[in-house]
Amino acid sequence: MSLRIIHQPLELKATLAGLRQNKTIGFVPTMGALHSGHRALLQRSKSENDITVLSIFVNPTQFNDKEDLKKYPRTWDADLALADAAGVDFVFSPEFADMYPDHFRYQLMEKEFSQALCGKDRPGHFDGVLSVVMKLFNLIQPTRAYFGEKDFQQLRLIEGMVEAFFMSTKIVRVPTVRESSGLALSSRNLRLTPEEIQLAPRLHQVLIQAVNASEATAQLQSSGFQVDYVEDLEGRRYAAARLGKVRLIDNVKI
Ligand code: PAF
Repeated sequence: MSLRIIHQPLELKATLAGLRQNKTIGFVPTMGALHSGHRALLQRSKSENDITVLSIFVNPTQFNDKEDLKKYPRTWDADLALADAAGVDFVFSPEFADMYPDHFRYQLMEKEFSQALCGKDRPGHFDGVLSVVMKLFNLIQPTRAYFGEKDFQQLRLIEGMVEAFFMSTKIVRVPTVRESSGLALSSRNLRLTPEEIQLAPRLHQVLIQAVNASEATAQLQSSGFQVDYVEDLEGRRYAAARLGKVRLIDNVKI
């Protein structure tokens, strides 16, 4: 099957309904600006499913900062080339009005873990993520959906949503893809200046080397990061830190 692009939610739903008999559907949700981390998700989906669907939608409801939304990298042609080379069957790329005919009157909310870590600095962020992922799952009804461990808090919240709402999709965790320097791949890395790119791998180095979260915070600050948080939680060290205007997140097992 060659790559097909669909923009309309109900067209996607009807098309997949006609194809799904006895077939498995793998789904990779993204906001575009695709890189090798996304490629790893797509490869995994291709190897485990009959049909692979990729969504590319910069979801405004998960951005609490309008500037961040405006500056989010958009690389449509390169994204399509990567999707095609990875053997994706469908790219779903909707408009906001079509995804949110209710103007976001209806929202999905988690009231505990979504308020911690990234949720402290980004109020409403995870409500937007969970709401859009629920919409996407309802349209696609994937057998499996693939999420990177780089966004570990997001991954845990989506696993929790699937469990809480008795959803049938299996969530597959895919390990973080890193540069040889240790820097976790992220669409936001595209916005780092050449000097910041040199410094950015320090985030991962400090997370794996520091003996505790406060030592990691101090080391990052003295390296020039503005630290939003470093926290050790349930065997994992999570961090968000800014270099200039770019906010980087990472996490490691401890
Ligand atoms: O991780 C992302 O790119 C986004 O949060 C997601 C899951 C595609 C929802 O918009």
